Amino acid sequence: MERVKTGISVLDHITGGFPASRTMLLTGDAGSGKTIFGLHFAKNSCDQGLKTAYITTEEDAHDLNTQGNSFNWNLEKFQENGLLNFIELAGARAKVTEAAMSIDIGTMKGNFAKILQNIPEDIEVIILDSLGSYTAKLTPYEFRDRFDLLVYELKKRDITALVILDSATSHEFNELALFSVYGAINLMKRENPYTGRRERVMDIVKMRSTKTPTQFMTYEINSNGIEILSSSEPK
Ligand SMILES: Nc1ncnc2c1ncn2[C@@H]1O[C@H](COP(=O)(O)OP(=O)(O)OP(=O)(O)O)[C@@H](O)[C@H]1O
Ligand SMILES: [Mg+2]
Repeated sequence: MERVKTGISVLDHITGGFPASRTMLLTGDAGSGKTIFGLHFAKNSCDQGLKTAYITTEEDAHDLNTQGNSFNWNLEKFQENGLLNFIELAGARAKVTEAAMSIDIGTMKGNFAKILQNIPEDIEVIILDSLGSYTAKLTPYEFRDRFDLLVYELKKRDITALVILDSATSHEFNELALFSVYGAINLMKRENPYTGRRERVMDIVKMRSTKTPTQFMTYEINSNGIEILSSSEPK
């Protein structure tokens, strides 16, 4: 299976990278590094010459560029040469809601696949940060239905995708999303039972067609972005 490197070297070494034309799910607590992971992947997919869209619902492009600059990734360069598109959905979402109120809020509500209508045809990699903003008031059935449709549309368009769900999204929705995607990674902070110190750990929950470690991998966020330190911590 073709792979797209994430740029997170240990992860690429272990898995070979994200499966091409498939959707990966990234979940994790507030401040666990989901956005930095997403930017790290975006930076690396641009380095591989892949046309990348970073869809952001919470932070604007300016803040994301600032975050990227803190790792010396110079994401502006990729935007100038057309490899990277930041697509801000916050504005679009507000507009949709306004217009929808007078039309039919029901048809707009949580139709995730509609997000893809804002994406240029030739995009090869998408990071969606985060879908959590679109899940409010959906029933679990509606969520599953719409999430499946999004994953289906992404695959049909041959897009390698990283979909981020934040912890504000219910546990139940996280569980449902897990079944639809090709792979999933969860980021956590926890106390190391041996040292008593808090640390960041990454769990590759699943990755089809790929041999994955069953252990948590400790990682840190440093001047290189996300860096995995070890894979020896018991779950
Ligand atoms: N340049 C940097 N060097 C080291 N650590 C950093 C740097 N920039 C941010 N961090 C750390 O990363 C954390 C935030 O990471 P990030 O924004 O990716 O989290 P998140 O999971 O997306 O959070 P949220 O749920 O709020 O969206 C910060 O709280 C900080 O601890
Ligand atoms: Mg974030």
